[in-house]
Amino acid sequence: LADGPLKGRHVLVTSGPTHEPIDPVRYIANRSSGAQGTALAAALRDLGARVTFVTGPASVPPPPGVTVVKVETAREMLAAVQAALPTDAAVFAAAVADWRVANAAGQKMKKDGSGKAPALEFAENPDILATVAQMGEGRPRLVVGFAAETESVVAHAGAKRLRKGCDWIVANDVSPESGVMGGAENAVTVIDGAGAESWPRMGKDEVARRLAQRIAGALA
Ligand code: C5P
Repeated sequence: LADGPLKGRHVLVTSGPTHEPIDPVRYIANRSSGAQGTALAAALRDLGARVTFVTGPASVPPPPGVTVVKVETAREMLAAVQAALPTDAAVFAAAVADWRVANAAGQKMKKDGSGKAPALEFAENPDILATVAQMGEGRPRLVVGFAAETESVVAHAGAKRLRKGCDWIVANDVSPESGVMGGAENAVTVIDGAGAESWPRMGKDEVARRLAQRIAGALA
């Protein structure tokens, strides 16, 4: 473990998309690459933290020097997060599917020749961030959520912070024209109880380093 301001601290990071099965060979997913969560885990590691990195099927590899827990679904991610606690801080950068397929098939679905398309039914997934943020006993001292929005970013993210019960929300604009999802850069606004702080557009690695510093400051 590196020497740094987070030496002796345990920090959890969730990252990547989740995959929600439709049948054994098909799934519902999203465009999250896992890049921001991965960069954050590396930056926290570099400040000396022991990092547990719970990741869905991301398109970038997990960073070295952290404990990696690989999951597929939102429900698996929640279980892995609960198993990783207690931690000093928890950062939820994963793009968790809000819904899973309630009538997922146990065998590969086949065309039956009738020309009728199958109907998918959905069930709500657990909100992992809200679950941890609203824990009584055992809640991490600092709980940080992300908010990927496509409009009214600060207003929506501020409301989300209150609704979920987390300490900070890191809001970013993921509208297609922003190029953030899958891209190397991010432009974020950090919202805490005191207000909103907008950072200039910068590389995801730099966003991660600044966030890690801010987290170290909060835990000091
Ligand atoms: O509500 P929304 O999905 O926009 O909230 C985003 C934040 O909540 C992110 O920090 C994300 O990791 C977290 N989240 C979660 N579990 C869910 C949905 C979102 O942890 N089921």
